Amino acid sequence: MKIPYSRIQLTGNEEKYLKEVLESGWLTTSRKAMEFEEAFANFVGAKYACAVNSCTAALHLAVEAIGIKEGDKVLIPTMTFTATAEIVRYLGANPVFCDVEYGTSLLTPSILSEALIKHKDIKAVILVHFGGQSPLMHTSDGTGIVDICRKNNIFLIEDAAHAFPAKFEDKYIGTFGDATCFSFYANKTITTAEGGMLVTNNEIIYKRAKTMRLHGINRDVWNRFTNSNNKCSWEYDIIAPGYKYNMPDINAAIGLAQLEKAEDFREHRQYCATKYFNLLSDISCIDLPQNIGPINNHAWHLFPIQIKAEARVSRNEFIEKMAENGVGTSVHYKPLHRMSYYKNAYKLLPEAYPNAEKIWESTVSLPIYPDLTTKELDYISQTIHAILC
Ligand SMILES: Cc1ncc(COP(=O)(O)O)c(C=O)c1O
Repeated sequence: MKIPYSRIQLTGNEEKYLKEVLESGWLTTSRKAMEFEEAFANFVGAKYACAVNSCTAALHLAVEAIGIKEGDKVLIPTMTFTATAEIVRYLGANPVFCDVEYGTSLLTPSILSEALIKHKDIKAVILVHFGGQSPLMHTSDGTGIVDICRKNNIFLIEDAAHAFPAKFEDKYIGTFGDATCFSFYANKTITTAEGGMLVTNNEIIYKRAKTMRLHGINRDVWNRFTNSNNKCSWEYDIIAPGYKYNMPDINAAIGLAQLEKAEDFREHRQYCATKYFNLLSDISCIDLPQNIGPINNHAWHLFPIQIKAEARVSRNEFIEKMAENGVGTSVHYKPLHRMSYYKNAYKLLPEAYPNAEKIWESTVSLPIYPDLTTKELDYISQTIHAILC
């Protein structure tokens, strides 16, 4: 069998909506992007959504919109993709890295509280909903992530690249913090090939992000070309040196079709996760991922397992053997404190991140996607048993 690590499903209205765009005579940001924004905002229950060409762009716009400036400090979990931290550097601000919890790879309320005691001048936190699950955002005694940020007057940006659709309690991720950023990269839970979405309930953040998304122009370029009201349709102003981050309609068309299936996709990934929990629970030399909420609140973008030190193969050997047997895997992540740029620029030492170190040395992510079959899941489990037992 050949089972890739990731496989996308484009079996819904993708072609139909793409055809509509091709026939519309306007390929870049226009009606489809606006439709996608509206549908996405409705889905997560947010007032505003701003479609962009990546989650990286959404994160950059979010930190810019809340006013992060040169020299500011932004708290970021070390166990994430570089995009979470690089966008802080775009603005000349500095990431302050913190450890994560073993089992979930999340920045927890207690890790956040400790970090804020150590670093008094944090302006914002970028929370990563690692793998597709949310940490405790609110608690009855006011000690959740959002509660702590509000009490300390700190902005909260959510990196939800893995977490669509995910919930905390009975509410979709999207409006807990000041802004939430989603990814529609090719291997994400829904895709537009490349793409992202910034959602927020804050009108000021939305307006700033919308302007900066397109060169700092004070109104939509689409209006510039298609405004039927001929009055001054050529005129626009530049109010800031913005960016070129808009999402073309071509991508939005795919996104709209994917959005229609987002919950079905999630349910199948949950089925895969449940199968893995059942099939792999007898293997003592691995740790399975920990759920902190109900299983159906989780987006199940990742299914990372830990190969413990006592296993008869190392994590790297495990990955090689899985590949020899036709099963693709991945690693999330080599933590940022180990990456040359961050390590050297901020003199970071591995000892400061004991949980991330333990995770990184042993972690491997198994395939989990909407058309992964029961037969394939059984084969993956049999292969893992053959390698480890
Ligand atoms: C946690 C996290 N944040 C941000 C990103 C960036 O997403 P994009 O590729 O859409 O810019 C990724 C991409 O893999 C990610 O995993």
